[in-house]
Amino acid sequence: MIATLHHYALEVPDLAVAEGFLQDFGLETGEKDGSLVAQCPGRGQEQVRLVEAPAKRLHHVAFTLHPGTLDAVREALERSGTPVIDPPPGTSPEGVWIRDPDGTAVQLLDEEPAPGRPVPEVPANVGATHQRIGTAWWRQATEDVMPRRLGHTLLFTAQPQRMTEFYTQVLGLRVSDRITGLVTFLNGGRGDHHIFGFIASTHRGFHHASFEVPSIDAIAFGADRMRARGRDAGWGLGRHTIGSNFFHYNPDPWGSWIEWFSDIDQVDDSWVAGDWEVPPHLWGAPPPETFLANREPEA
Ligand SMILES: [Fe+2]
Repeated sequence: MIATLHHYALEVPDLAVAEGFLQDFGLETGEKDGSLVAQCPGRGQEQVRLVEAPAKRLHHVAFTLHPGTLDAVREALERSGTPVIDPPPGTSPEGVWIRDPDGTAVQLLDEEPAPGRPVPEVPANVGATHQRIGTAWWRQATEDVMPRRLGHTLLFTAQPQRMTEFYTQVLGLRVSDRITGLVTFLNGGRGDHHIFGFIASTHRGFHHASFEVPSIDAIAFGADRMRARGRDAGWGLGRHTIGSNFFHYNPDPWGSWIEWFSDIDQVDDSWVAGDWEVPPHLWGAPPPETFLANREPEA
C-alpha cells in the first residue's frame, strides 16, 4: 500500500513562470512527456510536474507503494469499486492510475523511492548534548542548503471524511493526527509524520507541497534566496505543532504555497493518532490571512 509521495502535478497557465519560481525555490527543471518537471538536486526522482492549461489547478498526485503490495492494492480497488483509468495526457504511463473520491487522478507506482541526496551530519549543541566541539558552524552552515526530497502535500477537499476513508481503507495510509474539523494528516508507515493530508474547504484544490532541507539554517537560507530574487514574502520561520517540523512557506505564483521543512517527527507502528485543537504553529508569527484560501476554480 502507499509508502511515500513520489511527485505532485499542477496545471498552470505559464510554464516559464513556473520554471523560474521552482528554480528560485531550489529545484532543477527539465522536460518530460511534453511537461515541465522539477527534481531535487542530487536525487534521481521527478518531484513536481507542471502541465500547461488555462488555469492553475491540481492535476494529479503520485505515490510509491510498499514493496510487494501491488496485488493487495488491486484487490482493494476492485472491492471498493474504484476503476483503473488510462493515464491522463501529459503524464507517464507507469503504474496504476485511478481517481480518488474528489476526482483527482492518482498514480500508484510499484517502485522504490529514489534515495534523497546524501547530506552530512548536522552536529548540534542543544539540550545537554554538545556534539560540535572546535568547529565554527557559521562557516559550514551554507555548504548544502538545497531541497533533498519531496516530503508531503496537503490538498483541500469538501469531503475530508470520505477522502480519509478512501486513502486509509483502500490505499493503506494511516491517520497521524488531526486538527479538529480542519486538517487531517496521513502517514505511510515508518517515516515522516505526514506524507499527505486534507484541509477542509468548499471544494478540492492544491494547498501546498513541502521539501526537506538539511537543517533549520537551510530553511532560512531558502527564504533569504527568495527575498533576494524579489519573491513575495511568505510565512515563517516557525515550528509547527502537528509534525513538529521547522517551516518556512513561500506563496507560489498561483495563490498556493511551497514549503521547506526540517526536523519533522518520525512515526512507527506504535504511533497513536490524536485530535488537537491547536494553531498550526508552536512559535513564530501567525499565518497570513490568505493562508487557507482555496483559489482554485471549482471543477
Ligand atoms: Fe507542510
